[in-house]
Amino acid sequence: MTDYAGARGRARWLVAAAIGTLGLAMISGCNVERRKSDAELGLNPQQAAGRRIYDQSCDRCHEPYSTRGKKGPGLKGVFQHKYLRLSGLPTNDDRVSDIIRLGRNEMPAFSQTLNQQQIDDLLAYLHTL
Ligand code: HEC
Repeated sequence: MTDYAGARGRARWLVAAAIGTLGLAMISGCNVERRKSDAELGLNPQQAAGRRIYDQSCDRCHEPYSTRGKKGPGLKGVFQHKYLRLSGLPTNDDRVSDIIRLGRNEMPAFSQTLNQQQIDDLLAYLHTL
């Protein structure tokens, strides 16, 4: 009799543990966003090349698909606004490539790292954000 009750208790505990684990997996799963492929984002070859450059040079400081700040402001929708959020400069290819080439405050300059083609590819990608 006691053995039976004990087994039932253990079984209940196991079910509770399983549900708990599943719940945790679901919660943490929601926080880890899966990286979308270039095709899913509908990127053309130039924009995809720009994304590679972004990953190497910009991603550590700027979120591409969020306005949440890292070291610099999130760049989601950067070209959708008339003015840049932080600097207040007009959002156009000239001003944005100036920022990339020359840097700004805490942002390093990339004129020694990226050539004009790479900056053009990067701008093409930034327009998709
Ligand atoms: C070490 C961190 C760092 C890296 C790497 C970096 N940035 Fe920045 N970026 C910043 C910071 C900080 C600012 C804010 C500068 C200021 O005070 O105006 C900024 C500003 C900007 C702005 C203007 C935003 C606004 O609202 O005014 C753009 C656009 C930008 N960065 C694009 C890029 C791109 C593209 C790259 C990759 C080539 C890059 N950044 C690499 C830190 C970084």
